[in-house]
Amino acid sequence: MSTQTDMRKVLITGTAGFIGFHLAKLLLAEGFRVKGYDGMTDYYDVTLKQRRHSMLLQNPNFSAKEGMLEDQASFDALADEFQPDVIVHLAAQAGVRYSLENPRAYIDANVIGTFNVMEAARRLDVKHLLMASTSSVYGANEEMPFTETEKADTQLTIYAATKKANESMGHSYAHLWDLPTTMFRFFTVYGTWGRPDLALYKFVDAILDDRPINIYNQGDMYRDFTYVDDLVRGIRLLIDAVPERPATRDDIPKWDSLSPAAPFRVVNIGNSEKVRLLDFVDAIEEALGKKAVRNYMEMQMGDVPATWADATLLQELTSYRPRTDYKDGIAKFVAWFREYYGK
Ligand SMILES: NC(=O)c1ccc[n+]([C@@H]2O[C@H](COP(=O)([O-])OP(=O)(O)OC[C@H]3O[C@@H](n4cnc5c(N)ncnc54)[C@H](O)[C@@H]3O)[C@@H](O)[C@H]2O)c1
Repeated sequence: MSTQTDMRKVLITGTAGFIGFHLAKLLLAEGFRVKGYDGMTDYYDVTLKQRRHSMLLQNPNFSAKEGMLEDQASFDALADEFQPDVIVHLAAQAGVRYSLENPRAYIDANVIGTFNVMEAARRLDVKHLLMASTSSVYGANEEMPFTETEKADTQLTIYAATKKANESMGHSYAHLWDLPTTMFRFFTVYGTWGRPDLALYKFVDAILDDRPINIYNQGDMYRDFTYVDDLVRGIRLLIDAVPERPATRDDIPKWDSLSPAAPFRVVNIGNSEKVRLLDFVDAIEEALGKKAVRNYMEMQMGDVPATWADATLLQELTSYRPRTDYKDGIAKFVAWFREYYGK
């Protein structure tokens, strides 16, 4: 597709992470220049992060710096040197469950860290700032599918709360400094090079090692599983969908979350398909050709029974919506996992 020629230099935070790696790979394949920034935190296996980075470094249009978001001087030095047209901010302390154990990590990385990224974006007057939020901000909302225009004020974990805070912070900067800003609400992303702390990875690993898998809420949970290739395709297309401050409220279509006060919008990126956890486990067993030892558990604190995205806004903005069937996505993940770990 055609790309605006003034939007070719993209700074991505979290390039050693799952989604940042896939996004960088896609943008490099399309001829963008990409600068990465990642703190290589030990929240999960650092070797996996290093391998992702070394794959990206094979492309001469990619370079990266190791550093924490909280280290403002380090981030500023990188941003000043690179002079990005666009910043995609994905680095974060992720994970719903870990936020019960170590809430401070979320405040540091997601609140302070995101503030530092926003400050650099403002100072350098980037053409578009895009930042990761999460479907977890819908919290206790029950109306499904989740739409961006509905109220989302009932976050159930500090992880979700920091991401909702990022949305508010982003809105204020978009308004004050005329900084076009898009926030993504991602829905349960999975795929090759995936995160070891997420269910698919844990299930596949345990089943292959004959360990039991923990299935919460007796498996009566639903997730909108989004394949990572679809997700980064959505991000890539949204880079060109730069929000503009509307002249009047009446200019905003009903389906658009565009702020009446600022060049700012929130966009769901999800598959728009609610999959039952037990069906997901069945598909993993099928892809592995092996049955799981199932350990049925109660619902975990902070978890929600279901997520389901309305992807109308993404489609209106980009003419694209994720489509990968979860059985196909699981098969691709299993093939990668077996090859990567030689299992
Ligand atoms: N994967 C999902 O299902 C999902 C769902 C919703 C939202 N998200 C959001 O998407 C973004 C990317 O998630 P991911 O799945 O790729 O996670 P990830 O953990 O694989 O990647 C995040 C990267 O950020 C880096 N990082 C963490 N804290 C840092 C800090 N303080 N300073 C510098 N670097 C730091 C980590 O080293 C890691 O490489 C995150 O903002 C996450 O909250 C992910």
